[in-house]
Amino acid sequence: MSKKKLNVGIIGYGFMGRTHSNAFRKVNNFFDLEYEPVLKAVCARDGAKAQAFADQWGYESVETDWKKLIARKDIDVVDIASPNNTHAQIAMAAAAAGKMILCEKPLAMNGPQAEEMVKAVEKAKIPNMVWYNYRRVPAVTLAKQLIDEGRLGRVFHYRAKFLQDWTISKDLPQGGAALWRLDVKVAGSGVTGDLLAHCIDTAMWLNGSIDKVTAMTETFIKERKHNLTGKVEKVGIDDASAFLARFSNGSLATFESTRYARGHKALYTFEINGEHASIFWDLHDLHRLQYFDHRDDGIVRGWRSLHITDSDHPYMKHWWVPGLQIGYEHTFIHQVADFIQGVQDGKPAGPTFRDGLATDHVTDAVLKSAKSGRWERVKQVRKK
Ligand SMILES: NC(=O)c1ccc[n+]([C@@H]2O[C@H](COP(=O)([O-])OP(=O)(O)OC[C@H]3O[C@@H](n4cnc5c(N)ncnc54)[C@H](O)[C@@H]3O)[C@@H](O)[C@H]2O)c1
Repeated sequence: MSKKKLNVGIIGYGFMGRTHSNAFRKVNNFFDLEYEPVLKAVCARDGAKAQAFADQWGYESVETDWKKLIARKDIDVVDIASPNNTHAQIAMAAAAAGKMILCEKPLAMNGPQAEEMVKAVEKAKIPNMVWYNYRRVPAVTLAKQLIDEGRLGRVFHYRAKFLQDWTISKDLPQGGAALWRLDVKVAGSGVTGDLLAHCIDTAMWLNGSIDKVTAMTETFIKERKHNLTGKVEKVGIDDASAFLARFSNGSLATFESTRYARGHKALYTFEINGEHASIFWDLHDLHRLQYFDHRDDGIVRGWRSLHITDSDHPYMKHWWVPGLQIGYEHTFIHQVADFIQGVQDGKPAGPTFRDGLATDHVTDAVLKSAKSGRWERVKQVRKK
């Protein structure tokens, strides 16, 4: 039977442009869905580069102005894979045009901007999702299942880290292609919105809302040449960010992120300690979940390294045979599959814009606390 078409217009052909395009192309090979994404158009400001991307990935057409993309009648889904300062304007226009929206993280430059985006998509009643893809690593999804089943019991501690080392050189410029993450006017913040946002989204999904935080941030290199102006300018982003948090369920947390941890490229880890059991996950070994259960017989009690490749593990029945693992790209494929399933069932899959807003409120409180030197309350988002 031929599938219903879901015409995708993607904005941005960079790192995320590639992961999303790959997911749209592969999802129907592995998931049985009524809809099929069609790569209708890619939009970026440089027409020749956008055309080269379209040719490589199979997009039917190219736009150089996202407003034109949104105005097209043949686009059903607008996928925002461009830098953070573009998300709000594009999403609000896409919502007004009645398009479904997939938006990269962080949802917005700050909480108040994200609130406007939530209002716009909810008023338009359109399916909306934020690409916090780590929720869909099968081992992380299994962690959620184990917690929801009560296997950990009461949770006492949550510990997350996201470490990189690519901005240590003082000669690295800020701004423009590839280096917009160092330009606060484009990124909104540094590692807090870029890396900790992932840790916070996973944490609140697994362990519930965060009530308050106390943080410290540092900008180690205070000035860098700006690629667009050619001048040496003040650096406005946080290079490192660490905070303590209290969850609403009474558990305590530590979060740390930096781009100055020599030797680490993308070390995202979390550990959760409960009354009965603990779990630990590491992005570098993403198909494994470490699990310790105190209720095991004492003489064989210890940390188990679960290989998350069996068909009864989340998502794995769609892939190869037990024992064979999958990786990073698959998290995006899972997210597209769940988005489409949500559209089919009329039950939106998370993280929705509302969930993305909750994370933006936490990062706002972190940045505020780093300035004030005090504990700051996190603005809460009502569940829908
Ligand atoms: N989910 C994740 O794990 C993850 C990982 C990396 C990046 N991101 C997020 O994805 C977004 C993009 O990041 P990236 O790493 O792909 O960046 P990138 O620099 O690799 O690509 C950005 C793309 O946006 C395009 N662009 C910029 N301004 C534009 C405009 N005004 N109109 C149209 N196109 C425009 C650029 O030409 C480029 O193609 C960011 O919000 C980032 O935070 C998420």
